[in-house]
Amino acid sequence: MKLKETAPAFRLMKENDLIEVMEINELVYPTVWSVSFFKQQLRQTDSRVNIVFELEKKIVGHGALMKVADEAHIISLVVHPLHQKKGIGVSMLSVLCHHAVDMGLKSMTLEVRKSNESAISLYKKFGFSPVGFRTNYYSDTGEDALIMWIHDIDDPEFLMKVKSKQRIKGDL
Ligand SMILES: CC(C)(COP(=O)(O)OP(=O)(O)OC[C@H]1O[C@@H](n2cnc3c(N)ncnc32)[C@H](O)[C@@H]1OP(=O)(O)O)[C@@H](O)C(=O)NCCC(=O)NCCS
Repeated sequence: MKLKETAPAFRLMKENDLIEVMEINELVYPTVWSVSFFKQQLRQTDSRVNIVFELEKKIVGHGALMKVADEAHIISLVVHPLHQKKGIGVSMLSVLCHHAVDMGLKSMTLEVRKSNESAISLYKKFGFSPVGFRTNYYSDTGEDALIMWIHDIDDPEFLMKVKSKQRIKGDL
């Protein structure tokens, strides 16, 4: 499934979206990617997928994955605080998982703050399993990161699971 075939509210992120996406990141993360780092991510279209979710022409969510060998690393997943708990996060992760499968990748991984129970619960719904910690991973707070993995995403059952999770097909 290519992004253009998914719900119209999801689309690939463009450089013009940077200000809105950074505003959301600043609301929820203690530290955020710099503008130059963000631009660099957007230009590496062969190995990065950056998506946004738009509601009434306003961006309220951003998600990103990075391809490393045959792995997809989820490197960002963020929903505007006013729009959390409406199924946007789960649907954005579903779109990113579709991309990982489309790109022919074999597994997915991510790091999440070990205190971030809402995100951990979301990732577990897709089958991400905790495999260990990276001590003092986050330089802003010194918090440990929980490392999570899913293997065999090329198994058709994974895509079926992902499809069943996507709650937003069009507008909210
Ligand atoms: C994590 C985040 C992306 C989830 O987005 P969301 O749109 O609020 O999530 P959804 O509404 O799609 O919820 C999906 C699931 O996530 C979990 N979840 C989301 N918010 C939760 C909360 N406040 N408490 C507990 N679980 C929660 C639940 O398992 C939920 O499933 P349910 O609706 O069946 O209970 C969002 O909370 C966020 O932007 N957090 C700040 C940034 C962040 O921590 N990102 C993850 C970095 S690794």
